[in-house]
Amino acid sequence: VRLMTPDQTLAGRKVLITAGGTLERIDPVRFITNDSSGKMGYAAAQAAQEMGAEVTLVSANVSLPAPRGVKLVPVVSTRDMYEAVMERLDAQDLIIKAAAVADYRPAAQSAQKIKKSEEQMTLVLEKTEDILAEIGRRKKGQFVIGFAAETEHLEEHAMKKVRSKGCDLIAANDVSQQGIGFGADHNELYIFDQNGLVKKIPRSSKLEAARELLRLAAERMNAKGN
Ligand code: CTP
Ligand code: CA
Repeated sequence: VRLMTPDQTLAGRKVLITAGGTLERIDPVRFITNDSSGKMGYAAAQAAQEMGAEVTLVSANVSLPAPRGVKLVPVVSTRDMYEAVMERLDAQDLIIKAAAVADYRPAAQSAQKIKKSEEQMTLVLEKTEDILAEIGRRKKGQFVIGFAAETEHLEEHAMKKVRSKGCDLIAANDVSQQGIGFGADHNELYIFDQNGLVKKIPRSSKLEAARELLRLAAERMNAKGN
């Protein structure tokens, strides 16, 4: 049996991918997180590695095996992910922010388990770092892809994000649909650049969707000459 020669369009490229959902502690036994499974980011890491890239996978709270040949950097909180990404930013050619990052974290973390008392309690939250927006501000020629999970007004929200965060592409999915997005094995992606919709990747496995997205990124990186 002869194996098919895989497409090597990312040979020699350094690719950093974030995956999973960040987790914010309330106290030693409680936390806030989200439904991200990490499947989309892990699929992107596998696809990039197979296309010849040197891949770093910054992974938050995922219970999947790391794809072969990929450098895994485990993180827990948004601040951890922010630091892991910023440390490695300058060395990258392509950054893919598939992680579902917590938008808020508890303003104070209790060192001890919080005891129950009143009938109602209020948890004060503060905004986290916007990692993607900071990448957009600091990047020096890197190609940057963000993700957007939307339940309504997909195009409007995705266009706002691609512009405000300074990314080259945003891959948006409609998470209100069954069978795609959070936790699912399939995805359907609408890819936007600063000018609007570029491509629709029809419902396919997350690995196939990741390959399509990476082919588009590679084409654009080559065209840009970086
Ligand atoms: N993102 C990030 N840091 C954050 C929040 C989001 O890097 N603190 C990144 C995500 O990894 C994703 C993109 O920004 O690539 C869009 O995330 P999303 O949650 O869809 O958008 P937000 O800007 O957080 O806006 P909202 O949740 O209000 O829709
Ligand atoms: Ca968000």
